[in-house]
Amino acid sequence: MMNSLPTRLRRLRSSEARRSLFQEDELRLSDLVLPIFVEEDTSEYLELNALPGIKRIPESRLAFELEKYAKSGIRSIMTFGVSHHKDDTGSDTWHENGLVSRMARICKDTVPEMILMSDTCFCEYTTHGHCGVVHNHTVDNDATLLNLQKQAVAAAQAGADFIAPSAAADGQVQAIRQALDAAGFSNTGIISYSTKFASSLYGPFREAGGSELKGDRKTYQMNPMNRREALRESLIDEAEGADALMVKPASYYLDVIRDIRNASTLPVAAYQVSGEYAMIKFAAAAGAIDEAQVVRESLSSIKRAGADFIFSYFAADLAQQGL
Ligand code: PBG
Ligand code: ZN
Repeated sequence: MMNSLPTRLRRLRSSEARRSLFQEDELRLSDLVLPIFVEEDTSEYLELNALPGIKRIPESRLAFELEKYAKSGIRSIMTFGVSHHKDDTGSDTWHENGLVSRMARICKDTVPEMILMSDTCFCEYTTHGHCGVVHNHTVDNDATLLNLQKQAVAAAQAGADFIAPSAAADGQVQAIRQALDAAGFSNTGIISYSTKFASSLYGPFREAGGSELKGDRKTYQMNPMNRREALRESLIDEAEGADALMVKPASYYLDVIRDIRNASTLPVAAYQVSGEYAMIKFAAAAGAIDEAQVVRESLSSIKRAGADFIFSYFAADLAQQGL
């Protein structure tokens, strides 16, 4: 005897074709941005203990790696420099022949159609490891803005498609927009790390980028408990002229991604950070989870939460697997 039920959702799931027909969202390779670490003054790749499968790329091998990425289907990358020329302010970042500019030139010379996003910050280039100029033991917001302007113009000059400021400085989008426009780079975009939490999930990144930081960034990055403030950060960056917004980290902040998706019409990105990557890799290595499936589920859930595109260290693997 069958009960008469008004709704039986199993009717939508009973075959692969039905599941596929009724699927609401989809992860695509073109939604992924691969972050890479490029080290100057070395000829060796460096394996990263906390990021299994990810290596620092020697600058001399960058062109070779980019060609491989492009061939595998990667269409966007984000560059992080591992600097051997650190100082108090991170001045290497705005020199015409500094690492930031060289990475951008190599990328645009090698694979011009690849979208190049230049992470725009100072923490990998300062001796103290903070994301800006330190005065009296605090990061000086407005002094940092002037240096962000210089770095952004240098990166744009070298060919960067998008400037991605991650210094968590108030007014950074407006300052960079003005500087780019004044220098004639009105077609260079800004993808703002608009909602950047002071997260404990950045640990592996700090090893990868060779950060000198002691302590934390809680005076400039956001308190992870603040959902309304996350929205304020995003709407301010929208008003300042950002071309896209970003939430970072991603998986622990899906509510924030959804809030921003609902409150803004801008493209919204999310950054699946190093700690999120490491947790999946180590759990899979221990045999606790199926890596390929968990990777897809985690990225798909970030999309479903409302992200249009996702920064992920898994992008290279997924491209290899022909996602
Ligand atoms: C630095 C920066 C960080 C990340 C991207 N840019 C780390 C930090 O704020 O210390 C984190 C990326 C990751 O963990 O994968 N401005
Ligand atoms: Zn930084």
